[in-house]
Amino acid sequence: MMNMENVKLRMEASSPKLLPCEKSLAMKSFFILFLLSFSTFLQAQQIDSGEFLKQLVKYPLGASVNPRLLEENASYRALAGMEFTSVTAENHMKMALIHPEANRFDFAKGDEIVAFAKKNKSRVHGHTLVWHNQTAPWMKEFQGDQQAWENLLKQHIQTIVKHYQGQIAGWDVVNEAFLDDGSLRPSIWSDHIPDYLAKSFIWAHEADPKALLFYNDYGQDGKPKKMEAILNMVQDFKKRQIPIHGLGLQMHISIQSKNEEIKQVIEQSTATGLNIHFSEVDVAVNPKNNPDFIYDAFAQKAQSDKFLLLFTSFATIPAAQQYGITFWNVGDKDSWLRGYFKRPKEYPLLFDEAYQKKPVYVELYEGLKRK
Ligand code: XIL
Repeated sequence: MMNMENVKLRMEASSPKLLPCEKSLAMKSFFILFLLSFSTFLQAQQIDSGEFLKQLVKYPLGASVNPRLLEENASYRALAGMEFTSVTAENHMKMALIHPEANRFDFAKGDEIVAFAKKNKSRVHGHTLVWHNQTAPWMKEFQGDQQAWENLLKQHIQTIVKHYQGQIAGWDVVNEAFLDDGSLRPSIWSDHIPDYLAKSFIWAHEADPKALLFYNDYGQDGKPKKMEAILNMVQDFKKRQIPIHGLGLQMHISIQSKNEEIKQVIEQSTATGLNIHFSEVDVAVNPKNNPDFIYDAFAQKAQSDKFLLLFTSFATIPAAQQYGITFWNVGDKDSWLRGYFKRPKEYPLLFDEAYQKKPVYVELYEGLKRK
């Protein structure tokens, strides 16, 4: 739909030193862009309200959710229930929120999410038992020898896994344990518990032998050392018979991510024979946080191409290993890229501010239908 000539024209159009003839060219290119955006927009309107992305795939299609929005926003709730068949808690099963004090667990919000999923006959994915981030303050202050730290982590993992036994299909047991150079990330867990990764998986498995256990991480594409560390961990676990059933590739990617690098990590992960979860998908269009960024037809096309790449690559994974694709929240305005990274002009998901399907949804839907 978009060609480079138009983009060039548009870029020239934004230059301050333009000759009159260039100005008219610039006007024309703006007009073309407007038409392009408008035609995509019209296309978006053509999709039948009964047509959903989830109908085009055989694996669970999920979103992470925020219980406050589920409660307060009827459009968010309706959309999350209608479009998705799997649910992840964006924050409320993380250490700080679910285990706020040494002797107190708070399952209220996690339970609400599970109840929501049940109502919609969705699967629940658990995120995350062990992470260096969003640990509870009391954990950071904890004093004790190795045994005491092991007791703490074991009790944390097993209390949560048992609470949700039979209701949660799979758990991100450990999240983001490796640095880009492949070394183990320093954390309170690596500092106090030797071999904490393997121990965490063993404890989770003891608590619910039926739950699928995942190692989850981000940014493996273009980081061969990090990917190698993950693959080595899987090999080592297999050798030692440590239970691990899946790899979560977060897939917080951008329109600048390199297709070949993404495909390579998918192939390498699939070759382990484990379940594969694209666990936190979003495609950033304004990764440098340009305040003047315009989400034009060019950016939208680049974005829908990336979404399509993720979905078509996922389709190449043997069916038995396809755990699912999960988006990191529902609408653009709910995305952590806007909140956490303070990027107001970021549009990384499939639904707009009004919880309507965006043109990229339609492009992805149509693209998948053609496959
Ligand atoms: C993010 C949430 O989306 C934010 O709301 C929170 O403030 C910080 O964490 N990798 C993960 C997720 O595994 O848990 C993170 O979620 C995003 C990066």
